[in-house]
Amino acid sequence: MRLKNKVALITGGANGIGLATAMRFAKEGAKIILWDVSDHGQAAVDTLKQGGYEASFKKISVTNEQHVQQAVAEGHQQFGRIDILINNAGITRDRTLLKMSKQEWDDVMAVNLTGVFNCTQAVAPIMKAQQYGRIVSASSNVAIRGNYGQTNYVATKSAIIGMTKVWALELGRFGITVNCIAPGFIKTAMTDIMPEEVKQSSMANIPIGHWGVPEDIANGYLYLASDEAAFVSGICLTIDGGAAR
Ligand SMILES: NC(=O)c1ccc[n+]([C@@H]2O[C@H](COP(=O)([O-])OP(=O)(O)OC[C@H]3O[C@@H](n4cnc5c(N)ncnc54)[C@H](O)[C@@H]3O)[C@@H](O)[C@H]2O)c1
Repeated sequence: MRLKNKVALITGGANGIGLATAMRFAKEGAKIILWDVSDHGQAAVDTLKQGGYEASFKKISVTNEQHVQQAVAEGHQQFGRIDILINNAGITRDRTLLKMSKQEWDDVMAVNLTGVFNCTQAVAPIMKAQQYGRIVSASSNVAIRGNYGQTNYVATKSAIIGMTKVWALELGRFGITVNCIAPGFIKTAMTDIMPEEVKQSSMANIPIGHWGVPEDIANGYLYLASDEAAFVSGICLTIDGGAAR
């Protein structure tokens, strides 16, 4: 097992890529701390427990710094360590620049950018004390390609690539690697809401010829969270069927 006895905190783990990652990590021996604003996180953790895996759920928003600090302390107390942080929680509020409201800008910043900062800042001291940690965050291939109607989202996903490089520099000496993944189109609730014609036209830009599934990204997280990636830090791993060129 590639994550035997590791403790993994996965934000936004109730659905989609986060849920697939929680399941994959548990099967590889990790104990799961799953956070989400959605109650579905409890059902996900119940399923994990029924499968004989160790897991706990906390209903929490990554946007609230105090709640994040408190929940990290709780998780640390319960499991004794936190080895892996997957900054997966993310939202979209798509609108063209000319129509985007300040609220739509702020909402996406709060979750996708400040949320990643809050969680990483709360967990990093624990990893430093352990002299061991793996931090992997969700960027997107739109950070590289740009995307129509996603000023706010692309800003946050580009920032994640930048923050990853800074944190790799700052935390490397403590045995902590920091990386991110840039997924392309992955079939989840986030992309189900896209107009059908946009889904169809997206295919033309994907050399592999189809969208990905959450497990494609979970496999990437598994690699970067495992000891196989001990010498990998500061990178953004694109997993998008060849779309970002
Ligand atoms: N699906 C894709 O095509 C795709 C592509 C590139 C990047 N991503 C990124 O991957 C990540 C996961 O995306 P997904 O497609 O699985 O989305 P999803 O909508 O299926 O799941 C996201 C989860 O995050 C949770 N969440 C939202 N706001 C939160 C908050 N404030 N605090 C805690 N949890 C919160 C949601 O409740 C949900 O369970 C996101 O960061 C997304 O931007 C997805």
